[in-house]
Amino acid sequence: MTAASPASGNPSILSVRDLITGYGKKQILNDISVDVPKGEIVALIGHNGAGKSTLLKAIFGLIPIWNGQLFLDGQPVENPQPRSLLRSGVAYVPQGNRVFGDLTVAENLEVGGITVTNKQTRHDGIERALSQFPVLRDRLKQRAGTLSGGEKQMLALANALVVAPRVLLLDEPSLGLSPPMITEALSLIQKLNRDSGVSILIVEQKVREVLGICHRVYALKVGKVTYAGPPDELRTNRDRLREVFL
Ligand SMILES: Nc1ncnc2c1ncn2[C@@H]1O[C@H](COP(=O)(O)OP(=O)(O)O)[C@@H](O)[C@H]1O
Ligand SMILES: [Mg+2]
Repeated sequence: MTAASPASGNPSILSVRDLITGYGKKQILNDISVDVPKGEIVALIGHNGAGKSTLLKAIFGLIPIWNGQLFLDGQPVENPQPRSLLRSGVAYVPQGNRVFGDLTVAENLEVGGITVTNKQTRHDGIERALSQFPVLRDRLKQRAGTLSGGEKQMLALANALVVAPRVLLLDEPSLGLSPPMITEALSLIQKLNRDSGVSILIVEQKVREVLGICHRVYALKVGKVTYAGPPDELRTNRDRLREVFL
């Protein structure tokens, strides 16, 4: 089975077909199919507990896939594992923007590049990530735990960028940020996509904001896809949004 092309016409860099997974014996996701077209931002929206984080974890190989298939560039990925996915250019920023609070910004970035064995390549990756977030360059020796919420978010993103990913999986980057910071964080993500062409699958609870920056959106309701398509239909039609969401 191969992945079908999404509506935009851009080939899928990442596809999920008929994915089923859960925890222990409890099934959470039910036949999920998602496409991330090359160079696009794809949003995943849905209520708390819908299974959004579970889907990202399954894609990144943090929990086993019970059934279904993951494709990268149209090629099936057997038994996805975080390390091999990183090597294939897929990076993941978990919910909660985890950084190592006791380590400095510079040390966090070194950890971000831990799978890059060539020292020069790692150094170049760190420089490239820092060029996206100049504020972090001024704080290289500062312990990450003492950064502001917005700066921690930038560091979490920068850490993921060190490997020069082709696909970024972002789980609720706005979590814990103040409303102006949310807008700023999402603009940064949009800029990143425009500047580097990185494809992005972003989980967001801030629906209005994320619908403003994505090319395509999936809504998830109790483990099932209830909408897949352009964001405009949901942005302009509140009833439709409520229907797919609630
Ligand atoms: N580690 C886990 N063990 C058991 N159940 C879990 C675990 N993580 C999440 N769940 C359950 O899976 C469902 C989906 O959770 P999650 O994917 O985190 O939702 P979302 O990210 O959409 O808020 C919820 O019912 C949640 O309680
Ligand atoms: Mg979640």
